[in-house]
Amino acid sequence: MKNLLQDQVAVITGGNVGIGKAIALKLAEEGAKVAILGTNAETGNATSEEIKQNYPSSQAKFYAVDVSKTNAVDETLKKIQEDFGQVDILVNNAGITADQLLMKMSEEEWDKVLDVNLKSCYNTCRAVVRAMMKAKKGKIINVSSVVGLMGNAGQANYAASKAGMIGFTKALAKELAPRQILVNCVAPGFIQTKMTDKLNEAQKESILKGIPLGRMGDPVDIAYTVWFLASPLSNYMTGQVMTVDGGLVM
Ligand SMILES: NC(=O)c1ccc[n+]([C@@H]2O[C@H](COP(=O)([O-])OP(=O)(O)OC[C@H]3O[C@@H](n4cnc5c(N)ncnc54)[C@H](O)[C@@H]3O)[C@@H](O)[C@H]2O)c1
Repeated sequence: MKNLLQDQVAVITGGNVGIGKAIALKLAEEGAKVAILGTNAETGNATSEEIKQNYPSSQAKFYAVDVSKTNAVDETLKKIQEDFGQVDILVNNAGITADQLLMKMSEEEWDKVLDVNLKSCYNTCRAVVRAMMKAKKGKIINVSSVVGLMGNAGQANYAASKAGMIGFTKALAKELAPRQILVNCVAPGFIQTKMTDKLNEAQKESILKGIPLGRMGDPVDIAYTVWFLASPLSNYMTGQVMTVDGGLVM
């Protein structure tokens, strides 16, 4: 089953590196035209060049924007719709951590994580739903986390943002179902990226003990699930949370 996303336009926030980059490459491999949103122009442009080299028939472009900024996201999504003509698939992947025990967590650490991880979904979705409703089709995929399902000490801000994404997904799925716009979540477990590189050896060892498959996941494991949710293979699924976590949550 190849090219299930031929000529579809996919927007991927934080598609420069890590899980987002794996998603951008996979969707381009399947025929999608890819718009990458992020703050780091160097890695963003490098990823869009890599896509164009690997898949010469595809299109890829990087747009510099902080996804937590409502007006800037609005402008960027307008520009993408002018450049590509439409948005069929939106993947909300950009995310950060600022870990701290609640007692010591600053207001800035709380606000920043909620703004980048959760408010960004409000920003991007609001900017694309009108056109999707008109087209009576669309796929929105939010990259949450198992931490939003099970919590994690030292991550009250991150867990709240990721649990918030799940509630947001379900509300939006109900709101948009009459227009055949499908909204789902992926909840990755522990995946080998810069985000998890920050963990020390003791933390990694204790995490691995809880994963039945006994290893961390690869970004491509998440990319395959996002591809499935973006494709017609999942056309009877909405409002769902798919955990991809080596069996951590079951
Ligand atoms: N790695 C894991 O184990 C894991 C587990 C569960 C969920 N996740 C989630 O997956 C997503 C991707 O994580 P990752 O591991 O690839 O992390 P990463 O740090 O490698 O990548 C994060 C991406 O988000 C972008 N980003 C950060 N702040 C931004 C902003 N304000 N505006 C625009 N872009 C911004 C970064 O530039 C980068 O491209 C995140 O939402 C993360 O919470 C990761």
